[in-house]
Amino acid sequence: MEVVIVPDAPAGGRLIADALAALVRRKPDALLGVATGSTPLPIYEALAAQVASGAVDASRVRVCQLDEYVGLPAGHPESYRSVVLRQVVEPLGIDKGSFLGPDGAAEDIPAACAAYDEALRAAGGVDLQILGIGTDGHIGFNEPCSSLASRTRIKTLTQQTREDNARFFDSLDEVPHHVITQGIGTILEARHLVLLATGAGKARAVAQAVEGPVAAVVPASALQLHPHATVVVDEAAASEL
Ligand code: GLP
Repeated sequence: MEVVIVPDAPAGGRLIADALAALVRRKPDALLGVATGSTPLPIYEALAAQVASGAVDASRVRVCQLDEYVGLPAGHPESYRSVVLRQVVEPLGIDKGSFLGPDGAAEDIPAACAAYDEALRAAGGVDLQILGIGTDGHIGFNEPCSSLASRTRIKTLTQQTREDNARFFDSLDEVPHHVITQGIGTILEARHLVLLATGAGKARAVAQAVEGPVAAVVPASALQLHPHATVVVDEAAASEL
């Protein structure tokens, strides 16, 4: 695992955007796994600036979701499909038809989960997966004690994660209790994992993930098992390393 400490969040965004631009130049139709949340926004903004300036053409890039809420109505502005469309697909000029995600509104959720794992495989696998980290060490929506071998499946959110994500909704009551997330085993199949963590609130989770034992209680510690994992942290998030 490579750990890179940058001064602040914009610097982390630029560093990862440069890695993405290099990937896209090498492989124009790369499959890019994207995370939601506030942390990756500087990455998407920096990459969109490169696209706008003509430094990179992302029009053939394919994008896939890490996770999704279950039960939000189609087109809900906070469904992760809507968020990824708004923050990644549209600004980068990516074809909506090449955007993969699990169906959080499916009647048969286990079948939708299996279908998503299969779709990722059929698409040739994820070239680079961007990850954030929850304050409890989760990746995607794999809450503590998720199996390190897990596949895409339905999970119940912890109260902590619902509270962390309530800022995107009008009230805590509106935050769904259930989600579909790529499993940790699914995530580990990506060719390159890049986790960005910024701010002091993530310092403890980062220290446990990077320096602690590999353990299901800290899902992000699974990155230690991956042959090509990069953890980019700002100085605040690195403060407990
Ligand atoms: C959610 C997402 C994760 C994300 C986490 C942290 O739980 N499912 O993918 O990493 O939030 O979000 P933030 O970056 O806003 O702290």
